Amino acid sequence: MKRLHLILIWTVCLAEWSLQAFGDLDTTRRQQKWPVPYRRFDHRPKADPYCQAVYQFCPTGSPDGSIPVMKDADFIEVFRLQAPVWEFKYGGLLGRFHIMHDAIGFRSTLSGRNYTMEWYELFQLGNCTFPHLRAEAEAPFWCNQGAACFFEEIDDQHWKQNGTLEKVSEMTGAQFNEMAKWIREDNETGIYYETWTVQTDPGPNPAVWFDSYDCSQFVHRTYRKLADMGVSFTSQLQTNYTRIFLYSGEPSFVGNDTTIFGAAGNKTVASDIKRFYQPFRPPQSTKDFLISLLEIYERVVLEKSFYLYYNYEYWHLPMKPPYIRITYEEIPLPHIHKKP
Ligand SMILES: *[C@@H]1O[C@H](CO)[C@@H](O)[C@H](O)[C@H]1NC(C)=O
Ligand SMILES: *[C@@H]1O[C@H](CO)[C@@H](O)[C@H](O)[C@H]1NC(C)=O
Ligand SMILES: *[C@@H]1O[C@H](CO)[C@@H](O)[C@H](O)[C@H]1NC(C)=O
Ligand SMILES: *[C@@H]1O[C@H](CO)[C@@H](O)[C@H](O)[C@H]1NC(C)=O
Ligand SMILES: *[C@@H]1O[C@H](CO)[C@@H](O)[C@H](O)[C@H]1NC(C)=O
Ligand SMILES: *[C@@H]1O[C@H](CO)[C@@H](O)[C@H](O)[C@H]1NC(C)=O
Ligand SMILES: *[C@@H]1O[C@H](CO)[C@@H](O)[C@H](O)[C@H]1NC(C)=O
Repeated sequence: MKRLHLILIWTVCLAEWSLQAFGDLDTTRRQQKWPVPYRRFDHRPKADPYCQAVYQFCPTGSPDGSIPVMKDADFIEVFRLQAPVWEFKYGGLLGRFHIMHDAIGFRSTLSGRNYTMEWYELFQLGNCTFPHLRAEAEAPFWCNQGAACFFEEIDDQHWKQNGTLEKVSEMTGAQFNEMAKWIREDNETGIYYETWTVQTDPGPNPAVWFDSYDCSQFVHRTYRKLADMGVSFTSQLQTNYTRIFLYSGEPSFVGNDTTIFGAAGNKTVASDIKRFYQPFRPPQSTKDFLISLLEIYERVVLEKSFYLYYNYEYWHLPMKPPYIRITYEEIPLPHIHKKP
């Protein structure tokens, strides 16, 4: 017991020491809450013109993101949609990495029309995972916005062929309209995509340091919102989702663009972050993304270190085995939360 106590004090001292190494930090950092809450913004800024999408975001959605209003008495069916990200020829790689994209489908009983809703990167996955190192900018530059896209039509073939199209729920038009209002708010305040989930280990009760914020998290958030409204879910299938993990000891806060890369920043730390990201320019193709993932794996195993960008701030992760993993695990549909 005494020994454990000593170790704890020792750990706390080390933590204090490493915080001091990064200059004066506000005291709130010392009572860090884990996982670090994903930051909400009061509005979504326009993407920087440097970020240019190869594929237009949400090409068939309405330009202002409006969601059609349903009649209160309508019945709306809800579909769970999932398909592999790499539908195109990937040979063995696709089988090895079960990387799926998730979305939600709706069908109005009154009009017979159907709709797809998904949340994804404005500039593709590579740009949300690796920054650009630009000669004219001190700090690494991220094109990492993600957003919700709502459009008419469910492409049955696309989802059914190698994925899932399954009815999981039903709600009234009034409930749909309430959900639509919430989607608009969620879309305005949650603006960036986060690829990684960071936790201590792959075991059943890990400490989670950071949660991802991606297409499947959007689907879970929406399901939870619906469950809170009293909508119930059932599925005949196992509901598995892709997650991309980093495994590390307790992260330490490093700083933001100003405090690290500004005039008063620590040059050693600044160049170490750039050196870390040097080999991983945002890849153009999904194949390049996989190659970068394999490269980052080798590097992380060698250096046991990772700089995570979360909430537009950098954190240092003391990495540990198994370092990086892509899983395809079950996350059950929500149960109804009865209103008090
Ligand atoms: C990633 O961002 C860069 C910089 O804006 C851009 O040139 C590139 O087209 C983006 N990649 C994709 C796949 O959109
Ligand atoms: C979400 O925000 C994006 C980016 O501004 C926009 O293109 C899209 O239409 C919005 N989606 C919804 C459903 O409001
Ligand atoms: C959605 O509508 C299209 C076009 O009417 C139809 O082909 C498709 O089967 C519908 N899908 C669902 C899941 O309702
Ligand atoms: C996708 O589905 C098609 C047709 O069902 C099948 O021929 C093909 O092998 C599948 N591809 C993969 C990568 O599973
Ligand atoms: C970085 O953090 C400092 C100190 O907390 C803050 O004053 C500054 O506005 C932040 N800069 C950016 C770009 O967020
Ligand atoms: C910069 O940070 C490194 C690593 O934390 C530290 O060893 C070094 O003393 C710092 N340099 C200055 C000038 O603060
Ligand atoms: C789905 O997840 C469960 C439990 O997390 C796992 O046992 C199963 O193998 C997964 N299914 C697939 C197809 O990977």
